[in-house]
Amino acid sequence: MKRNIVLIGFMGTGKSTIGQALSRALGYPHLDSDELLVKKVGKSIPAIFAEEGEGAFRGYERQVLKELGNRQHVVISTGGGILNGGVNSDAVRSLGYVVCLEASPEVILERTSRNKNRPLLQGPDPFRTIQELLAQRSKHYREAAHLVLDTEGLSQTEIVAGILDCARYRLAKEDQ
Ligand code: S3P
Repeated sequence: MKRNIVLIGFMGTGKSTIGQALSRALGYPHLDSDELLVKKVGKSIPAIFAEEGEGAFRGYERQVLKELGNRQHVVISTGGGILNGGVNSDAVRSLGYVVCLEASPEVILERTSRNKNRPLLQGPDPFRTIQELLAQRSKHYREAAHLVLDTEGLSQTEIVAGILDCARYRLAKEDQ
């Protein structure tokens, strides 16, 4: 397995924040698939969705995923739709130790309602959209992950320590 930690999960589950904290703890660079995509395309995510549509965004996401394939010793935070209905699950798993972060729909709504950067949640009933997308996606996140972590009630320190312990255990086992 590649020496990378890859964070997957729904919008607002803390992938970027935890990714940055893991990056500091390990001394590995932190790469964010959304940031790489925005840099590559030269447009914001809302602009890509508005001008080219979700399909084009998923195509760019797939390219970014491919380009990440040659990285080692990095922490990667991914966009919430990166698995694309399971199409990209193998590609994501091949990147390293995959951790799925989970949170309740209520917590997700609270966190995601703070900004307008997520086109999928700008409709009239974001809570319903969150519930519907979770129903479609949760299975794919869990299948692609080596570790599924319910973050509810845990501090950032506890989440990071839990991930590091589990990742080290897994990698040590592989080295035996
Ligand atoms: C998306 C999640 C977003 C971003 C885009 C689409 C999704 O990333 O890639 O708005 O389909 O769940 P975050 O999970 O970092 O918010």
